[in-house]
Amino acid sequence: MDAYEAIRVRHSVRAFSDEPIDPQTRTALQAEVERCNEEGNLHMELAWDEPRAFDSTLAHYGKFSNVCNYLIVAGPAGDGLEERGGYYGERVVLLAQQLGINSCWVALTFKKRLVKKMLRPGDKLVLVVALGHGATQGVPHKSKEAAKVSKVPEGTEPPAWFERGVEAALLAPTAVNQQKFTVELLDQTSADGRPVVRLSAGSGPNALVDLGIVRLHFEIGANRDNFAWVTEL
Ligand SMILES: Cc1cc2nc3c(=O)[nH]c(=O)nc-3n(C[C@H](O)[C@H](O)[C@H](O)COP(=O)(O)O)c2cc1C
Repeated sequence: MDAYEAIRVRHSVRAFSDEPIDPQTRTALQAEVERCNEEGNLHMELAWDEPRAFDSTLAHYGKFSNVCNYLIVAGPAGDGLEERGGYYGERVVLLAQQLGINSCWVALTFKKRLVKKMLRPGDKLVLVVALGHGATQGVPHKSKEAAKVSKVPEGTEPPAWFERGVEAALLAPTAVNQQKFTVELLDQTSADGRPVVRLSAGSGPNALVDLGIVRLHFEIGANRDNFAWVTEL
């Protein structure tokens, strides 16, 4: 399964079975976390066999059950942390999906104080992602139409690569499934002659984390060689 296929089959899963995550999968995910931390100036960490963060009435109210593993998305407090957290956290999510591990981004229903104690001094917690073997594979979310989240220059048809990017962006997890983002093909080219795309966030909870996740999905769907971002991450 490649990353594009992982985008297509991933759905949020909040209830997990007792099957442990095997050592090879842990090692592969750990290696990806280290690459992402390096590239994204983050301090993400994987918590294995740690059920306490989701052992609360709040978590069960949020429909989470048997969450024993999770990714802590965190990094030095500062500009762009949330968007980078979204982008690189989703890289781990998509690799997990390819390795048969289900996931759910979580903003609310976990013990924040407990997780914050695991951070390095000066770091800020963005969110966590629950990981494990799902009791189910989840279900596809309701989605906005492509025309509601994308724009092309007036009087032009969207190129196929752009449409594929928007399709992948619409398959991205977003907080409360808000899909509050806009992907815009601009009437300009980059220094190396590629069409330029702008991604912007609407307002809503965790909209900047969503933006990072959507950025990664668009890149995978559209293929980075076909365009340049107006602003890089
Ligand atoms: C930034 C972010 C925060 C989220 N927070 C929560 C949460 O606190 N509780 C929860 O049950 N789901 C949470 N989700 C999962 C979303 O509800 C889910 O991604 C969305 O409904 C789309 O469904 P899908 O992931 O199955 O495609 C969050 C997702 C994102 C991206």
